[in-house]
Amino acid sequence: MKIAPSILSSNFVRLEEEIKKIEKDGADIVHLDVMDGHFVPNLTFGMPVIKQIRKITKLPLDVHLMVQNPENYINDLAQIGVEYVSVHQESSVHLHRLVTEIKSKNIKAGVALNPSTPVEMLYPILKDMDFVLLMSVNPGFGGQSFLPLVYDKMDKLQKKINEYNLSLEIEIDGGVNSENAPILGKHGADILVAGSYVFKSGDYSQAIRSLK
Ligand code: DX5
Ligand code: ZN
Repeated sequence: MKIAPSILSSNFVRLEEEIKKIEKDGADIVHLDVMDGHFVPNLTFGMPVIKQIRKITKLPLDVHLMVQNPENYINDLAQIGVEYVSVHQESSVHLHRLVTEIKSKNIKAGVALNPSTPVEMLYPILKDMDFVLLMSVNPGFGGQSFLPLVYDKMDKLQKKINEYNLSLEIEIDGGVNSENAPILGKHGADILVAGSYVFKSGDYSQAIRSLK
């Protein structure tokens, strides 16, 4: 299982230090939450910040676009050289086109689902994506409580992945901690995003190890 700390809960005035620390402390991926104040009621950071982050870490960058019109950012992200991009099903009308475009830029393409969106929405285009990001909180903020409804969605998705014989990864985002991590593992999680659990822990290395 890969651990992807979300820098949303890090100390933004010491971002370089924070990212280098999680890299040294065993993180596999850096999760970057881009919010536009429209799709979600919060603002974070955008392309100029991601461009600078690219220069200071070799870890794969996983960009979670919580924005309206996510298609506007794919070219920039390809140019920056990020490894993963997820777009929300709820914010794109032409999801198949968007996923295909992301893949054509040699970026792993993911679709993110809000807690209330059923996984069945993705079945017609499951073969076209590289990963699914299941939200286990309502997107917009770090530090919220984990929603166990995600387990049932993971089981359904896993079944479909087996049926279609796909190698799709499942990423879980929101409220992940050392108590639910083993259960998420049993339900087939490949990537766990953890924001506050890692960055508010005081010992990043121990926090990442305990999730693994
Ligand atoms: C929420 C973001 C998450 C968030 C997770 O909208 O997508 O990535 O940073 O934070 P925690 O782990 O604190 O729930
Ligand atoms: Zn996220």
